Formats: sequence, C-alpha cells, structure tokens
Amino acid sequence: MLLELKNIEKKYKTPSGEDEITILKDLSLQVSPGEAIAIVGPSGSGKTTLLNIIGSLDKATAGTVSFAGKDLTALDDRELAKLRNLDMGFVFQLHHLLPQCTVLENVLVPTIPTMTMGTVRWNVGMLKKKGVRSRNAADAEDLAKKLLAKVGLDKRLDYFPAQLSGGELQRTAVVRALINKPKLVLADEPTGSLDKDSSANLGQLLVELNKEEGAALIVVTHSSELAQLMDKTYNLQNGKLEIC
Ligand SMILES: Nc1ncnc2c1ncn2[C@@H]1O[C@H](COP(=O)(O)OP(=O)(O)OP(=O)(O)O)[C@@H](O)[C@H]1O
Ligand SMILES: [Mg+2]
Repeated sequence: MLLELKNIEKKYKTPSGEDEITILKDLSLQVSPGEAIAIVGPSGSGKTTLLNIIGSLDKATAGTVSFAGKDLTALDDRELAKLRNLDMGFVFQLHHLLPQCTVLENVLVPTIPTMTMGTVRWNVGMLKKKGVRSRNAADAEDLAKKLLAKVGLDKRLDYFPAQLSGGELQRTAVVRALINKPKLVLADEPTGSLDKDSSANLGQLLVELNKEEGAALIVVTHSSELAQLMDKTYNLQNGKLEIC
C-alpha cells in the first residue's frame, strides 16, 4: 500500500477558541501505488482538510498516516519537507505559479533543492542565471521540456504566467507537480477555474500522466465528469469516506 490513513480525526477550534468542531472522524483510506481516486463531497465537508493531512501540510488530531512505508506522524518538519518535495506533487485550485518566472522555470522550481542539496542554497533568481548547471539540472530540464511538450506547451516555454490562458496555467501547474516523478499527486479542484472543454482536457491529462508516469493520484473535485475518469470515487460526508 502506498498510502494508508487509519482512524483519522481532525478537530478545529472555533474562532473564539472556546469550542471545537470535528471535521473528520474515524476516517480510513488506502491507496495503492499508481491508483487514481476522486474525492467528492459538499462544500465544507473537509476535502481540502483531508488533502492537507495526506500531504503533511497539516496534522490530524488523532489517527495515523503512513506513506511509502513511513509513519508521517513520526517525522519531523525537515523530513516531511523533503518527502513532500521528492515524493509528492501538488496541484492547487489556484495554480500558485511564480509570476516572475517563465513556464519552464516554474516547472523546474521543485527540482532546486534536489539538484543542489548539501551544496548551495538556491533562490528562484538563480534559476535564471545561465551557466549554473549540473548533470541533474540538465536532466530535470529535459524532463520538463518533454512533459511540457506532452501537454502542448512546447511553444510557451519562455512565456510568463500573465501571458497564459487559464488552461495553460493549470497545465503548467500539473507538469510542475510531476517534475520530481512523485509517488503521489494531490490535486485540489484542479479544474475549478476552467470551462467544460478545458476541464475535460485537463482531467484526461492528469489520468494519462498518472498512468504513464506511474504516480498515484488523489483528486478532489466537484465535477462528476472528472471523478468518472478515476479508478474509484469516494464521497466525504459526516467526517468519513464512503465509496460511491
Ligand atoms: N483553520 C481552520 N480553523 C477552523 N475551522 C476551519 C479551518 N480550516 C477549515 N475549517 C473548517 O473546516 C471545514 C472544512 O473545510 P475544508 O476547506 O476542508 O472544506 P472543503 O470540503 O474543502 O470545502 P470546499 O468544497 O468548499 O473547498 C469548514 O467548515 C471550515 O470552516
Ligand atoms: Mg476545498
């Protein structure tokens, strides 16, 4: 099993800090390597909360998360950051691309710590410096170009986010999520801001890349069309997942 959640509970304090509300309760989930699942459910049911817990961006108040044989609840922040960077890819509803970087540079951002770990502390500006190259960097750039071509962005490598359409921004974000060949891709309403056609195309693309690159995929979506493309669909309601 790639991912196993056992008896997850998540409580939030109310803004006054006096009460707690329970969002996830005794929730369990198993995802095999390469499996693609959709999570649907009403607004406010806890889908983003769940994705954040799986991606170790947030902690459950009870229960365990194991990923690729590691108990995430036992890892420290540094180990979690490394795992997130190397083994997980994230696609958010708002794509979060860096406006000052081109398409190609944005896609390469997650490779920075990998290719320079233990040597230089990089910042994004350094990506633009010509001549700062290593073998890993060259490999990463080749993969970025290959994946960008696959999603039809080979003519947009040197465009900035402000010069792209909504669908092109989302496709760039999908490629960025795949650049480190993660074991798991987490996507939170990746087609939320797109029209029906672009949304269907992006959904197909996610599934294609999931099959070809072998990454497991968890997609939170309000779109039944997108959910249908996955191997399984779960409904999140009353704090638990039920298979649809
Ligand atoms: N930091 C927080 N503090 C308190 N309550 C929170 C916090 N974050 C989320 N919540 C509450 O948890 C509930 C679930 O939020 P979440 O964002 O997970 O929902 P969702 O299923 O992703 O909804 P949507 O489909 O609208 O994106 C919401 O009712 C929200 O108010
Ligand atoms: Mg949400």
